[in-house]
Amino acid sequence: MKKSRAKIVGTGSYLPHRILSNQDLEKMVETSDEWIVTRTGMRERRIAAPEEFTSTMGAEAGKRAIASAGISADQIDFILVATLTPDYIFPSTACLVQQALGAKRASGVDVQAACAGFPYLLLMAKSFVESGIYKNVLIVAAEKLSSITNYRDRSTCILFGDGASACVVSAEGEGLEIESVCLGADGELADLIVMPAGGCRLPASQQTVAEEQHYIKMAGSEVFKHAVRRMEASCKECLEGLGISEKEISWLIPHQANLRIIDAMAKRFEHLPSDRIFKTVEKYGNTSASSVGIALDELLRRSPLAQGERVLLTAFGAGLTWGAGVLRAT
Ligand code: ACO
Repeated sequence: MKKSRAKIVGTGSYLPHRILSNQDLEKMVETSDEWIVTRTGMRERRIAAPEEFTSTMGAEAGKRAIASAGISADQIDFILVATLTPDYIFPSTACLVQQALGAKRASGVDVQAACAGFPYLLLMAKSFVESGIYKNVLIVAAEKLSSITNYRDRSTCILFGDGASACVVSAEGEGLEIESVCLGADGELADLIVMPAGGCRLPASQQTVAEEQHYIKMAGSEVFKHAVRRMEASCKECLEGLGISEKEISWLIPHQANLRIIDAMAKRFEHLPSDRIFKTVEKYGNTSASSVGIALDELLRRSPLAQGERVLLTAFGAGLTWGAGVLRAT
């Protein structure tokens, strides 16, 4: 029997309306538009309204992905949500998204791979679909990073924004075949990006709040070096596994953590023209797990791929975790 190949048959994204500009940040911490643009390439990011949550933004992106796939919510068999800002520690954000979508037949679970959540979800969805366990899997990557960002810490608050992305991965229909996904992790470096309190090691207390332990802490320049190396290595692992070269890639979508990281990546892919590296970092900042999916949705809406064209995507984050994937238009 011919094995059915998993394809992305619909994409969607959601960005909150409120814009936080570099000029706004200048009024909040000791920083400057010039410093932020030079060091990160960011000019603005989106911030969720108080009544918007990871689940509501994720459900909106999911609704758009389901519409673009031309199916209905009750055809979704499983929902995978990648986030490091779940609505609650429990119940899962996947259950809240299921309820919001009315996807009554779907089971679901949250996945925590920080900024690398998107490629992690891709591999899980591919496995579910190609094994024949499920027909339609909805993957949702959503973050309300503003809820764990310390707007008194200039080294992190300039970086992060809110938003959500989603894809329907299916055995049937036309779309982007998930040709390959390569993942990695290194828990030896877990302390480089961490939210120290709120888990069972350091439960919430008056002291953890007073010490501002419920925010993202990051060793920025250490993380920077690993990000470039790990994303390059996982991209090359994917290409080698498929026996193709970078010349056969039409677009590279790197995690939108910092323009300098993206530029450093670009130098490592010398055959890929710079206008083929898709960027949203300037307008949305780092939206963690959502970033690659938001960029993929924008790319497909702006310039649909011709049959046979390939996209290489890659992400990196806390854990450390990283991953890459190759998609091919069918
Ligand atoms: N405005 C002005 N000055 C600042 C600011 C700011 N917003 N932030 C830091 N500085 C200062 C520092 O205090 C430091 O000053 P000093 O030299 O007097 O000590 C100086 O600027 C340089 O600081 P660095 O941290 O060395 O700056 P760097 O060039 O490394 O840029 C940045 C920092 C933007 C955070 C960068 O390291 C980076 O992007 N790192 C990677 C982040 C990443 O990839 N994250 C991915 C995963 S995130 C996740 O999983 C949630």
